[in-house]
Amino acid sequence: MENMTEKHEIIRFDTVDSTNKRAREYLSDGVVVVANAQTEGRGRRGRTWLNTKGALLMSIVVKSKLDVENTALIGLASAAAVYETLNRYTSVCIKWPNDIITMAGKKLCGILSECVFSGDEIYAIIGIGINVNASDMPADLTYPASSVYIETGKQFSVGDMLDQIINELDEKLKLLNADIDRLLEIYRKYCITINKKVLINTCDSVFEALAVSVDKQGRLVVKLSGGETVVVSAADVSVRMKND
Ligand code: BTN
Repeated sequence: MENMTEKHEIIRFDTVDSTNKRAREYLSDGVVVVANAQTEGRGRRGRTWLNTKGALLMSIVVKSKLDVENTALIGLASAAAVYETLNRYTSVCIKWPNDIITMAGKKLCGILSECVFSGDEIYAIIGIGINVNASDMPADLTYPASSVYIETGKQFSVGDMLDQIINELDEKLKLLNADIDRLLEIYRKYCITINKKVLINTCDSVFEALAVSVDKQGRLVVKLSGGETVVVSAADVSVRMKND
C-alpha cells in the first residue's frame, strides 16, 4: 500500500524481509518504506534485528550531498532526529554512534545507515527500528533492551511516531547540508558516550579508553590510558560503555 506526503512517498508492507533491503528498490530521495514485521531484520555489524510487538520499522532513502568520507554523519543526524522524537515520550540519550537508549542504558532504538552507489549518486538508506508497544523483550538479546511501553506504561500510535520521525529527519538532514557544525553541536549534547570510559572492540582486539568527542566525520575521538588520542569509525568498531 502506498501513500504520499508533500515530500515523501510512503510504501507500506505488512511483513517484509528487511525494510532496508526493500528500500534499495526505490532509490529516490525521500521514499519511506514501513513494515509491521520483518523476517530478516538487519542490525549493524552483521547482527540481526528481532521483531517486537507494535514496533516502528522503517527505512528512508536519502540522496546524499556529502563526500563519501562524511556519510557517517547521516546516521548521526538520524539519531538526533529520533532522539528528539523519543524524548517526547520518555527520557533518552544517544549512545555513539546511533543507538537511542534509556537513561538506565536499555536500547529503545537501533539505526542502520547503509550507502548505495547508483551512477554518480550516493543514496543513504536509513533503517530505524523502535521498540514501541512491546510489553516484554526477546530473551536472547546481546544488549539490554526496553520499549516505550515498558518505560511509560502507555501504548502509543506507531503512525504518529512515524510522522514525527519523518519531520525531525527532514529538519536534521537540512541542517546536515546547511550547517554541519550546528548539527554536531546538537548531536554532542544528546550523546551520553562523550566523557565516559568505553570498551572498544575491533575485529581483533578490545581496549579501554576515555571518549572525549565526536569529530567532523562522525568518528569517536578517544584517549588511551597512555595519553594518546585516536579516532575510531563506527564501521570498524563496536563500543560499550564501561558499566554496560
Ligand atoms: C542496530 O542497532 O544494530 C541497528 C538496527 C536497525 C534495525 C532497523 S529495523 C528497520 C530497518 N530494517 C532493517 O533490516 N534494519 C533496520
